Amino acid sequence: MKHLVLPVLFGAAITLAAEAVAVEPDSPPPWAYAVNPPGTKPAPDDGTPLRVPGSATSFTLTQLRNLFSVPDWHPDDHPAMPNSVARGSRPGVFPCGFCHLPNGLGRPENASLAGLPAEYIVRQVAAFKSGERKSAEPRSLPINLMVSVAKGTTDEEVRTAAEYFAALPMRQWIRVVETGTVPRTHVAGWMLVASEPAATEPIGQRIIEMPEDLERTERRDSASGFVAYVPSGSVARGEALVTTGDAGRTTPCGVCHGAELRGLGPVPSLAGRSPSYIVRQLHDMRRGLRQGAWSDLMKAVVAPLTDQDIVAIAAYTASRAP
Ligand code: HEC
Ligand code: HEC
Repeated sequence: MKHLVLPVLFGAAITLAAEAVAVEPDSPPPWAYAVNPPGTKPAPDDGTPLRVPGSATSFTLTQLRNLFSVPDWHPDDHPAMPNSVARGSRPGVFPCGFCHLPNGLGRPENASLAGLPAEYIVRQVAAFKSGERKSAEPRSLPINLMVSVAKGTTDEEVRTAAEYFAALPMRQWIRVVETGTVPRTHVAGWMLVASEPAATEPIGQRIIEMPEDLERTERRDSASGFVAYVPSGSVARGEALVTTGDAGRTTPCGVCHGAELRGLGPVPSLAGRSPSYIVRQLHDMRRGLRQGAWSDLMKAVVAPLTDQDIVAIAAYTASRAP
């Protein structure tokens, strides 16, 4: 009897394991798709004028939270913003600069737009609007707001905003650090921030991207960037995948994205951009959630990638000079 029961039990165990494996690679990694815990309440405003280094301006907390007026701490580091970037035009259609910042460098929960081809920006906004471009995390408020902005903006406004961001220089904005141990974090304001009291934990197969200076980032200071902790050895693994395809496992990226990954014609750049953002895109494309004529070119590239490959690729691309 025993020898009959054992295979049956093992069979069940193998089926369960296979099911667990089948679900696991497709779930959105929570560190890349940061979701605020339910019931998050903003701190009250006591009316104090707040400042950041190197700026003559001050804003109160209420002013900083006004989505229809982009806090422009450093007006000298970019040209005058068009209305769609600085103020928005109608209810629910927030100005691009609030999320993507006046200098287009962006934050981990959105995307950098500086220096992307204007045609590409226009195409992506159209894809958010048509539903061709979806996210694996339907609870992400920033992404849902991006979709409502795309739906509420006129072609003319999108074109003006696209030309504004395309003309801005992409700059070094994220410091990549390979490590085995990271600060313990939680999600606040749709991004990872260090928990208190401070503690550390193993990085595992994650990228922990967080503000260099939380207070300045919370004030939406467009001169204070981010640090991305990546697993030890991931940059070299990513380099092999990106530059050679790692012995035929995928297509080398430079053919389309440019040898230095700074973009080529209508194809977007990858160098120096938020690794959390890059992970979300590769994950969404692998799941067929981000679609469209141009994204189809990425299908064969992402199909063979494992979650670990995606982490390594994003670690490498983030470490390259933009
Ligand atoms: C409320 C915040 C918010 C506003 C306002 C906003 N965006 Fe976005 N945008 C996002 C988020 C979040 C993403 C990243 C989506 C993801 O991670 O998949 C994004 C992504 C994008 C992308 C894709 C970038 C890429 O490399 O493919 C483009 C282009 C874009 N936004 C353009 C705009 C333009 C133009 C405006 C103004 C008309 C705008 N956005 C306003 C939040 C916003
Ligand atoms: C055959 C051409 C081709 C190759 C090879 C290719 N890509 Fe792409 N990739 C594209 C195109 C075209 C887009 C823009 C898709 C769109 O417009 O929606 C893109 C988009 C992306 C995006 C989204 C960028 C953004 O701003 O949202 C990422 C990330 C990306 N590719 C990573 C890679 C990586 C990593 C490799 C190599 C392992 C690679 N690509 C190889 C053509 C290619």
